[in-house]
Formats: sequence, C-alpha cells, structure tokens
Amino acid sequence: MGSRFLALSRWVLIVALLVGLSGETCNAKDDGTNCTFSCGNIHNISYPFRLKHDPEHCGNARYTLSCENNITLLDLPPSGKYHVQAINYLYRTIRLVDPGLKKNNCSSMPQNFPPPLRLPYSAYDMSVYPLSTPVFYIKCSNPVNSSLYVDTAPCLNINASSLVQQKTYSYVKVGDMKVGDLNEGCSAEWVALALFDYNTSSYESIHSALMYGFDAFWLDDEEICKHKWRKYHTCYPHTIPGT
Ligand SMILES: *[C@@H]1O[C@H](CO)[C@@H](O)[C@H](O)[C@H]1NC(C)=O
Ligand SMILES: *[C@@H]1O[C@H](CO)[C@@H](O)[C@H](O)[C@H]1NC(C)=O
Ligand SMILES: *[C@@H]1O[C@H](CO)[C@@H](O)[C@H](O)[C@H]1NC(C)=O
Ligand SMILES: *[C@@H]1O[C@H](CO)[C@@H](O)[C@H](O)[C@H]1NC(C)=O
Ligand SMILES: *[C@@H]1O[C@H](CO)[C@@H](O)[C@H](O)[C@H]1NC(C)=O
Ligand SMILES: *[C@@H]1O[C@H](CO)[C@@H](O)[C@H](O)[C@H]1NC(C)=O
Ligand SMILES: *[C@@H]1O[C@H](CO)[C@@H](O)[C@H](O)[C@H]1NC(C)=O
Repeated sequence: MGSRFLALSRWVLIVALLVGLSGETCNAKDDGTNCTFSCGNIHNISYPFRLKHDPEHCGNARYTLSCENNITLLDLPPSGKYHVQAINYLYRTIRLVDPGLKKNNCSSMPQNFPPPLRLPYSAYDMSVYPLSTPVFYIKCSNPVNSSLYVDTAPCLNINASSLVQQKTYSYVKVGDMKVGDLNEGCSAEWVALALFDYNTSSYESIHSALMYGFDAFWLDDEEICKHKWRKYHTCYPHTIPGT
C-alpha cells in the first residue's frame, strides 16, 4: 500500500490535464452560434471548452463539460466526475472539487479515486502556478502524535465496525508522502488534492481547502501541436477569430 501511494504522490507534483489523445483535428473555430456559455455558477464557458449537447464547433471535443442539475461537471475517467468551480483562461487552469465533499460537513469525504493524474509532462512552466497538493488519509491502529499528522476527529470517527475489531485512528497528512512518513501500524487509505493557501492546523481547515478545490492545467492545441503530440493529431495553422 505504502509504495503505491509513494509512486502516486510523485505524480501529484505534475497535474497535467489532457483529455484523450485520439485523432481530433487541432483547429476549431468558435463563431459563438448556438453555444451555451453558462451553467450554474460558471458563466464563462468558452473555447476550448464546450458543453456536451452543444454543437461541435462550440469548443474542442477534448474539453467537453457537462451541465447536470445546474452544476458544471468535468468527467476525468478513471477518477470520476468533478464539479467545476472556476475556469481561468489566462492561466489555463480549471478548478475542480470532488463531488463527495459537502460544504459545512467535515464528515463528508472525497469519493473519486485515484485523483485525476494524467500524463507526466507539461509544455509550460508549472512553477509559475500554485501546485495542487495531495492530502493523504491515513488509518492507524494506535494513536499517533506527529507534527505531520492532523487528527480528523471529531469529523471522521472511523470506529471499528465490530467489537472484535480494534478501534482505529484516522489522520490526514498534507503534502508529498516520503519514506518514513507512514508510522508503524498506519496505512494510507485515500488521497485527494487541494490548493493550500490555507491553515492546515485542523482537519476542518483542510476540509475547507478540499472544498475550495484544486487546479488542473490544460494544454492548448498550439502547445500540443508544437510538441511531440503532434504526431497523434492533424495540426492546421491556427485561425484567429475575426480575421
Ligand atoms: C443554430 O440553430 C439553428 C436552429 O436550430 C440552426 O438553423 C443553425 O444552423 C444553427 N447554427 C449553427 C452554427 O449550428
Ligand atoms: C442555476 O444556478 C444559477 C447560479 O447559481 C442560478 O442563478 C439559477 O437560478 C439556477 N437555476 C436553476 C434552475 O436552479
Ligand atoms: C470569458 O472568457 C473569454 C475568453 O478568454 C474572455 O475573452 C472574456 O473576457 C471572459 N469573460 C468574462 C466575463 O470573464
Ligand atoms: C455529513 O456527511 C456524512 C458523510 O457523507 C453524512 O453521513 C451525514 O449525514 C452528513 N451530515 C449532514 C448534516 O448532512
Ligand atoms: C505530542 O508530542 C509533543 C512533543 O513531542 C508533546 O508536547 C505533546 O504533549 C504530545 N501530545 C500528546 C497528546 O501526547
Ligand atoms: C467511536 O468510539 C468512541 C470511543 O470509543 C465513541 O465515543 C464514539 O461515539 C464512536 N463514534 C462513532 C461514530 O461510533
Ligand atoms: C491556524 O489555526 C490555528 C487554530 O485554528 C491557530 O492557532 C493558528 O494561529 C493558525 N495559524 C495561522 C498561520 O494562521
């Protein structure tokens, strides 16, 4: 279990989002006709994004969002669907929240696993942007007093389901998992992502950070075409709308 999570946490450092590598063309025009720009609290859905039932020309098929019950969703298999909280077209980041998390209920847990960790590359400098940080959920057979671990009680009280089993203690650790970070009798059970400008001294504040969401980056077509991915795509000269 431990080594699996170690490998996983390394991937977390690079959260690159690339939905599909199938042979779609690299040019798309958006004349804005018949396209939906708004769903729930997202009012600015535009290229490269499009909503599922909108015409193809509204965006790039690789960046298809859906609108369900007034909530904008991004499906990232095999992880699952995420609630879209914000789209930043300048930094090309999309802020996502796990749908298992509920506001003002720190007993609610992230439900998607593994986190959406895609290809280990980026065409641009990630260090410019805040990196999403992993949050590891850890279960221990004995109480642990460690500066690295934050107790999840009383939010998460994962008591043994039968009296025969031992009581377990639940913690989270924010940040990468290094060798030795996992105490004896402890196992990593889950990992989620968050952006941390946040006070991580209590599980409530960590839950708030998870509730705020994490950023995924997307590469635009120009970058994909410029780099080795070109061979998987048919790339055409970029057309600038209005010219
Ligand atoms: C927009 O919708 C109208 C009516 O449904 C249709 O006639 C028109 O061709 C559509 N335009 C585009 C660009 O799809
Ligand atoms: C959808 O969400 C928007 C923004 O939160 C709100 O103004 C609108 O009333 C909602 N519509 C429905 C049908 O719930
Ligand atoms: C929406 O996104 C487009 C494309 O980046 C941008 O030009 C426009 O200013 C944005 N509008 C709002 C209201 O953010
Ligand atoms: C809080 O979340 C937990 C776990 O999902 C759920 O069992 C509980 O009913 C929720 N409490 C409220 C008040 O919604
Ligand atoms: C945890 O350890 C610190 C220092 O190592 C100590 O001051 C503190 O009392 C300990 N807390 C518990 C609950 O054992
Ligand atoms: C878990 O166990 C503690 C002490 O054994 C108990 O006080 C608490 O109510 C239990 N919590 C749940 C959710 O069963
Ligand atoms: C974080 O929160 C704790 C308790 O809520 C507080 O004692 C501490 O000063 C806060 N730290 C920062 C850096 O805000």
